[in-house]
Amino acid sequence: MKGLILSGGKGTRLRPLTHTRAKQLIPIGGKPNLFYVVEDLVAAGISDIGVIISPETGDEVREALGSGERFGAEFNFIVQDQPLGLAHAVKSARGFLGGDPFVVYLGDNLLSGGIGHLVEAYRIRKSEAVLLYTRVADPRAFGVVVLDGSGRVAKLVEKPQDPPSNLALVGVYLFTPAVHGVIDMLKPSARGEYEITEAIQGLVDKSLKVEAFEVQGWWKDTGRPEDLLDANRLVLSDIRRKIEGELEGSEVVGEVVVEASAVIKNSTVRGPAYIGAGARVEESFVGPYTAIGNSAQVIKSEVEYSILLDGASVKNLPYRLDSSVLGEGVSVDGQGSQRRNTLQLVLGDRSQVKL
Ligand code: TTP
Repeated sequence: MKGLILSGGKGTRLRPLTHTRAKQLIPIGGKPNLFYVVEDLVAAGISDIGVIISPETGDEVREALGSGERFGAEFNFIVQDQPLGLAHAVKSARGFLGGDPFVVYLGDNLLSGGIGHLVEAYRIRKSEAVLLYTRVADPRAFGVVVLDGSGRVAKLVEKPQDPPSNLALVGVYLFTPAVHGVIDMLKPSARGEYEITEAIQGLVDKSLKVEAFEVQGWWKDTGRPEDLLDANRLVLSDIRRKIEGELEGSEVVGEVVVEASAVIKNSTVRGPAYIGAGARVEESFVGPYTAIGNSAQVIKSEVEYSILLDGASVKNLPYRLDSSVLGEGVSVDGQGSQRRNTLQLVLGDRSQVKL
């Protein structure tokens, strides 16, 4: 079985962060989303992995993943010229996929329970497609599945106004090569994309066996800033205390990771929190669900429920920074004014803010 990670796309909902980087590389709990995806595939026994990349961010993705050796995987990078949809991405990978069954995993999706049960279900039941769903309160923004009594998919509807169920499709799908013929017949949808839900519906229409199972644990799509923060919260909820950096006159409470060569000085860090290698926290407060990137700095400031990418710095902030995502190398300097209230920011790489 092969894996196909979709790491192209436009990432419009994450601008300005995605003006300068692939959204799949934004760190969640100190590690790029894409790495969790690779690890899930490898843990399910899938090491032959195709990675769909875009012409704009492909090099960065290639560089971050490398040869695959450190994951125990082998990568084949496939450039999708234009982001014409998930089914189009599968079509672009036809040469790599050959006649093998394969798992498609969206590079901006995170699953706490992995995909072992999906692959196992296929091995036992030999369906033409196996999907995962999760129950959501408002399914109108999702692909929605309708099941018959035996767990077989009877129907799929993309972003329905009047949802026929509350079962939302998750961004991981297992297919046999039967899907290729259906994809060849697809026409672009109203939004101009070749939709994977239409390909799956095509399999159902041919009376082929398509089954769906509930995800294990939580699932998150990190397509919007608030999703990044929520995914970061979920990942940090599971971390265990590990202090490899230096603590000086500081109170570091609970599940906190301080990576090697990071320095926490005269500060309070309240977990769960992640402090990357070489980062510096000085005369500051770092609150729960915060991930501070490598070589980032928090000086005379308070930060909570936020993500700082590598090399970002906040200094002398007059506000507590809350629910914020600061891109790589971003600098926010409060220049020592009086502290009051909170501040909420989403800043792309290398932004500079003076308050
Ligand atoms: P989406 O989040 O649906 O699309 P997008 O990345 O273009 O983002 P936005 O809607 O904010 O503009 O994509 C899901 C995943 O699939 C994501 O990792 C990008 C990837 N993808 C491709 O590789 N090729 C494509 O043609 C599309 C649409 C997405």
